[in-house]
Amino acid sequence: MDKLLITGGNRLAGEITISGAKNAALPILCAGLLTADTIALSNVPQLQDVATMLKLLRQMGLQTEQEGSRMMLNGAAINKLEAPYDMVKTMRASILVLGPLLARFGEAKVSLPGGCAIGSRPVDQHIRGLQAMGAEVHIEAGYIHARAKKLKGTRVVTDMITVTGTENLLMAATLADGETVLENAAREPEVTDLAHLLVAMGAQIDGIGTDRLVIRGVAKLHGAEHTVIADRIETGTFLCAVAATGGDVILKNTRSDILDAAFDKLRQAGVILTSGPDWIRVQMAARPKAVSFRTTEYPGFPTDMQAQFMALNAIAEGASRVTETIFENRFMHVQEMNRLGAAIDIEGNVAIVKGVDHFVGAPVMATDLRASASLVIAGLAARGQTLIERIYHLDRGYDRMEVKLAAVGAQIERVK
Ligand code: EPU
Repeated sequence: MDKLLITGGNRLAGEITISGAKNAALPILCAGLLTADTIALSNVPQLQDVATMLKLLRQMGLQTEQEGSRMMLNGAAINKLEAPYDMVKTMRASILVLGPLLARFGEAKVSLPGGCAIGSRPVDQHIRGLQAMGAEVHIEAGYIHARAKKLKGTRVVTDMITVTGTENLLMAATLADGETVLENAAREPEVTDLAHLLVAMGAQIDGIGTDRLVIRGVAKLHGAEHTVIADRIETGTFLCAVAATGGDVILKNTRSDILDAAFDKLRQAGVILTSGPDWIRVQMAARPKAVSFRTTEYPGFPTDMQAQFMALNAIAEGASRVTETIFENRFMHVQEMNRLGAAIDIEGNVAIVKGVDHFVGAPVMATDLRASASLVIAGLAARGQTLIERIYHLDRGYDRMEVKLAAVGAQIERVK
């Protein structure tokens, strides 16, 4: 299994090109199930979760052609309406095939995802929403089996804001009979990006970017071209890395407007940020200042940035409180960071971080995707060497992270 060996202490300087967003690309690939026509995508990130999703979709009969970050999807020959356990267990986002399959083919069988390292993560809201639209859903032998001759538009109010839940119901509603209103919809930029693709495919959607999506079902969707939005979490991860090590880096092919909450906190930490329409410059010369924050749904501070920002707080001047409100178990990085010399205590869903002067390199274990990213940041800022094991978590969601970091001066290498 691959590991990352990092020798910390280097200042980062230069340019990094940000990839397309993982969490936009995954639902967008599933939107390929909604039409028999061709969808042409660009800025698709090259990472393991995308490869896993493509493998699943190909098993269903989706035809795909790929050249770097460009991709063509064709759903004319879909012949298998099932996402098996061995695929879903490796990637929860596989649940995103449920809505499109049911809407276009009237049937879908998707393994229940089960638990996850960061929380229990049920999918009850996806199922309830589809039932409200007239689907018959049975849970049999670990599988969600859903049937509906034709989904019917209705008003769906989810109990909580759910990103993939909104995406599943949005895709399902595009081909339903009549009007669907999704109340309490997620407003994450990745949901908006999916909605823009669906509109390009002929869907009728109002309220894009708001918490109330109104979808008038159409008989058929057609082909379209789409460029996947920049990955705001990859962007934020590199911002935190530069903030932790010090340096001056320009991030290209990304946007600042989808990172407002993180920008605000980084500025409070003393980071200098400037930006243009498709670039962000990050400069840091001093020790960061501790900043308390709580994670919330977009446009609040993203849970997917919590671990990376905590690495910054861990070596900041002062103490901070980090409150996680989205997932019940998303502090797996804390014990690993403490092995690097951090002083972090957990009380329920709050981490109390007392800033220490510096990290000291040590062997650590990656436990999930964003936890892994936070350990990379800690390793880059640490004195001495850090060896990160189980980086397959990192490879799931970051497009060649160590290559991008090495290009701006980090001493980081993948060891087999
Ligand atoms: N929830 C339920 N029932 C549901 C759906 C969600 O109780 O039917 C709960 C969850 O357990 C959680 C909260 O609602 O406590 C929010 O979960 P949400 O459904 O929004 O999360 P998700 O759609 O499974 C996506 C991202 C995650 C990101 C979260 C929150 C994708 C593929 N995944 O997950 O990304 O953390 O939204 O923003 O879009 C990551 O990239 O590292 C990652 C975990």
